[in-house]
Amino acid sequence: MRVISCLFSLWISIVFICTPVEGVKSYLFKTCEQSGFCSRNRHLAGEIAKAGGEYQPRYSVNIESILAHDNGTVSGLIEKSLNDGSVVGLPFTISVLEDSNLRLTIDEARRLVGGLGVSNGKLKTRRYNEAADWALQDGKPRIAEKGAVEVKTSSDSLQLKYGEYETSVQYYPFKVAVKYKGETQLILNHDNLLNIEHFRTKEEQTAEDSIHVSPEESTFDSFQDSFKDSKKDKLPFGPESVSVDVSFVGYDHVYGIPEHADSLELKDTVGAEPYRLYNVDIFEYEINSRLPMYGAIPFMFGVKPGFASGVFWMNSADTYVDIERVKHGESTLTTEKRTTSHWMSESGVLDVVFFVKESPQELSTSYGSLTGFVQLPNLFSLGYHQCRWNYNDESDVLQVHNNMDKYGIPYDTIWLDIEYTEEKKYFTWKKELFPDPDRMLSVLDETGRYMVVIIDPHLKVNYEVSDYVVKHSLGVRDSDCKKTYHGHCWPGESVWIDTLDPEASQYWSELYVNGSRLMGNSQNLHIWNDMNEPSVFNGPETSAPKDLVHFQNWEHRSVHNLYGMTFHEATYDALKTRFYNQRPFILTRSFFSGSQRTAAMWTGDNMAKWEYLRGSIPMVLTLNVVGMPFAGADVGGFFGDPSKELLVRWYQTGIWYPFFRAHAHIDSRRREPWIAGEPYTSIMRDAVRLRYALLPVFYTAFQESHTVGTPVMRPVFYETPNNVASYGIEDEFFVGNSGLLVKPVVDEGATSVDVYLPDDELYYDFQTFIALHGQGFHTVEAPLEKIPVFIKGGHVVAMKQRYRRSSKLMKYDPYTLVIALSSKGSASGKLYIDDGETFDNELGDFVNVAFTFDGRKLSSSVTGGLDQPFVQSLARVTVERIIFIGDLKPSKEIKVSQGGEQWVAQYESSEGAITIKNPQVKINSDWTVSV
Ligand SMILES: *[C@@H]1O[C@H](CO)[C@@H](O)[C@H](O)[C@H]1NC(C)=O
Ligand SMILES: *[C@@H]1O[C@H](CO)[C@@H](O)[C@H](O)[C@H]1NC(C)=O
Repeated sequence: MRVISCLFSLWISIVFICTPVEGVKSYLFKTCEQSGFCSRNRHLAGEIAKAGGEYQPRYSVNIESILAHDNGTVSGLIEKSLNDGSVVGLPFTISVLEDSNLRLTIDEARRLVGGLGVSNGKLKTRRYNEAADWALQDGKPRIAEKGAVEVKTSSDSLQLKYGEYETSVQYYPFKVAVKYKGETQLILNHDNLLNIEHFRTKEEQTAEDSIHVSPEESTFDSFQDSFKDSKKDKLPFGPESVSVDVSFVGYDHVYGIPEHADSLELKDTVGAEPYRLYNVDIFEYEINSRLPMYGAIPFMFGVKPGFASGVFWMNSADTYVDIERVKHGESTLTTEKRTTSHWMSESGVLDVVFFVKESPQELSTSYGSLTGFVQLPNLFSLGYHQCRWNYNDESDVLQVHNNMDKYGIPYDTIWLDIEYTEEKKYFTWKKELFPDPDRMLSVLDETGRYMVVIIDPHLKVNYEVSDYVVKHSLGVRDSDCKKTYHGHCWPGESVWIDTLDPEASQYWSELYVNGSRLMGNSQNLHIWNDMNEPSVFNGPETSAPKDLVHFQNWEHRSVHNLYGMTFHEATYDALKTRFYNQRPFILTRSFFSGSQRTAAMWTGDNMAKWEYLRGSIPMVLTLNVVGMPFAGADVGGFFGDPSKELLVRWYQTGIWYPFFRAHAHIDSRRREPWIAGEPYTSIMRDAVRLRYALLPVFYTAFQESHTVGTPVMRPVFYETPNNVASYGIEDEFFVGNSGLLVKPVVDEGATSVDVYLPDDELYYDFQTFIALHGQGFHTVEAPLEKIPVFIKGGHVVAMKQRYRRSSKLMKYDPYTLVIALSSKGSASGKLYIDDGETFDNELGDFVNVAFTFDGRKLSSSVTGGLDQPFVQSLARVTVERIIFIGDLKPSKEIKVSQGGEQWVAQYESSEGAITIKNPQVKINSDWTVSV
């Protein structure tokens, strides 16, 4: 153990201190070819393709087994035929869920009964089937209403009809096709790649004339792992992968399955590496790569005019996905062009949900209804986060804090990385450096600021927290199911808390109670969960060995991709227990479907290079379209030292990330915004101030995401789903539904950008109000101080333009409304307001304000908890300015009306805009302004 830790620190000193020149250590990670189950499944796919029409598929539905239940669920048995004609029984269910989504599960009968004689008799023998319980909002999905599904069986297939949907299940070869509005959208097992590697012992498999291996199969690494540091993997169940292909019929634009440092649109993987979903601590990752990263969301969807279809693969094991566009089909099922996806997971049941909708927005809403929408963030967490590894001590923290005010840069949160602890023992503070955390936190609190400190799942051995975990067996265990696993991470030898175990989560909550050693009594302290893939420095692929064991004796292999989520959920519960009426803020590095309910994420350890700035946009967009909108990349780049220009451009981009944090590696030079000097400091300050001015827009976008799943950073094609030319745009985006369109400058030395307008509406420069018009590309000037931002005609946005030191201090500031006239002269928009920090919104203490302008009259209509305390306190909040952009000729008198009273307001005209000064309307009740 010592040796490893010395080696590691040597490695740190070489790689960290020198400017990083080398990229990711890709040799640390398995390629598909080096991974037993991926290699075997790709081999099978190749053999089946080679055989073409000659191939005899092995999976069929046993007709006698089919049971149609009155809740619309159909169950039965799929049979896999082996070489001698004997069959393996695979129980399946098909159910129509609420919102017309379809769920298919396939399990394995032999694994359900136990007594398999595997090397470790204590392990749970069945295939892991709880990924959905963790991923889905309420654990179990709601099924369609009684009577909504009509089931018909015939001699070769069964049909489920529900609304305008029709799903047919073909018995032989087994296939499932989903039709919507008469068009086939998705076909499961179109290419016969279904492969449930059934249970067999090594003896059974290796016997001469084994019936368990068919000619098209490979046996590569089925009972051993020959990859470097994975060799110790005991693979107690042998080969047990699940895999199938799903065709997106008529689609050639597909998205999703983060996390990868790659384009927004998914690429074909023919002849290349598949996309891999396996949560790992990927050191110095490369851009344009399908290597696995820190998190996994196994949701992929296709878009075509009039339709959007998704596949949600509810499996938390190591997973690879191959993608191929097929120009035209020759099959009996479809002759249309299609995109195939080949899903391969190392273990678990097959559990998949199909979504077919009419637009990507509908798909986002449906996926979110199933897995939960993003939390409504504590408002401070939408402000600017200042982070660095490390702010050294209390005086360093307070100096940075004071400089922010000195330079007029608003910020809400300062962060501490691992060095604040005593020997990296979480829940301790290093006394010499932080003698009185509550005192420091109360200084931050004076100006409404917060602190976030890091707490990771690895716990240094031999102190009270890890001792408790070991003693009560609350840690991740060795493959013997007994001993607590020991590995290496930042503190050296460590154990890992097993937050799949409710008792471990309970203990985790106790560590955070008000008055505890770490947390003290401060209410402005929140948490960063890092390294929760989990990162294990001496583990295979820098993570936990797959044959470790979790709560209820499930293998780590099967829960790997959701472990990180269970950890940040435990932290969320702990903070909520600590102060029940305060919205917790948690940043996580590792995530899974469902993480959006309790945490924000960031894209990990990027580099201070232009390609990482550029690459951050499609990465964050991808997270936004798979229900994880609270996402951002480290502004400035984690490793290395950005040039002043790069840093400025990164701030100008970073203010649009839903999660906006600057962060830097311990060996990089200090780069807080005042270090660069003028004109850079002022430009960065102005960018941050723009973010703060737009906080009402971001908060409203989050509230929409929280209720209907709208991406906060929204790809252009969500706006124009029928414009195929917009499908590939990945370097510009909208902010929620606000109509703000942003095209950040991400190229060194660039002084202009080509912005793409996806339709023929007017787009006004948000600064000069000059209008662009006409679908297609437009070149606009973008000198260093300029952020290309446009507001689409027809939208109203609410801003707060007064500089304050933090978002909390803006709470009762007046609003500025910007009305961007459409080509028809009208506009509308929304504003959501609540106290931004408690759960009182869930009791009704919030308002939605709807603005509409019909060409002459601007109306504000307020709905929500009008009699609630916070909403009532908004009576002192007014609109201080209304700016109309576009072609408007106001009458001489601007008439304002609110609460039965009328008065007249003044206005002034300038180039392209009319500004009504101080109309004196209160934000929390209805009013009109007639121009
Ligand atoms: C539908 O009914 C069957 C038979 O009662 C039951 O086994 C199954 O769990 C039900 N399905 C769902 C999703 O509720
Ligand atoms: C936290 O504990 C302190 C000290 O006991 C107490 O004064 C404070 O009210 C507690 N805060 C909350 C929100 O319970």
